[in-house]
Amino acid sequence: MVRPYYNVAVDGPSGAGKSTICKAIAAKLDLTYIDTGAMYRAIAYGMIIANVDTFDEAAVVHHLPNCHIDYDAFHQLRLNGQVLGDLIRADNVSLAASTIARYQPVRDYCVALQQDMASNGGCIMDGRDIGTVVLPNAEVKIFLTADVEERAKRRYLQNQEKKIECTYAQVLDDVKKRDQQDTTRIHSPLVQAKDAILVDSSTLDFDATVTTLIHIIQTQTGDGEHHD
Ligand code: DC
Repeated sequence: MVRPYYNVAVDGPSGAGKSTICKAIAAKLDLTYIDTGAMYRAIAYGMIIANVDTFDEAAVVHHLPNCHIDYDAFHQLRLNGQVLGDLIRADNVSLAASTIARYQPVRDYCVALQQDMASNGGCIMDGRDIGTVVLPNAEVKIFLTADVEERAKRRYLQNQEKKIECTYAQVLDDVKKRDQQDTTRIHSPLVQAKDAILVDSSTLDFDATVTTLIHIIQTQTGDGEHHD
């Protein structure tokens, strides 16, 4: 089977379901899924365990060379050789990731890694700046969003499933804070690329969103392969 030649860039706000949707599409279309938010989360985690104040840009940039990111043979993200798994999914890490992602040296480090990974094509990559900065020449660009209340509701239900204690109001507040930080930062703010196709998943369930995105990808690339 021939591996797809094209790259797919999927951007959008926190909680729009990008990662679960992209994972499912990657499996169906034989693409490699790259979760760029996980890189910022891993660096944020490295800062937290080293007691670096994430609001202090100089301190973060100073500590950055001590945060080495790579992947093991099973494509698991590592920080300084350690697989982090769900440690980077905690709410304090989410906010810290959004904070350190504002700093250009942090972005330069992550973007170089992401561009290298996608250099041979065949990737579906999700984040905030993929279509605008990381892969401006991606063959397919999608901006996946949903109402803020709907995104908070989904995150809240996920937390309940994972037995993470929180209230809906807290989750909504977190999502709004991250939206604010991610869209108003100076470097590479979250914005829809001019040539990206907008998909609002507020009223779509998981399967309908996957089907919609696959249809867009196949229409744009002429890739008729569909593996179940
Ligand atoms: O996608 P996520 O929620 O795992 O991302 C965590 C944070 O990382 C997000 O709030 C903003 C930042 N991020 C970014 O600035 N650029 C990306 N390409 C991906 C994530």
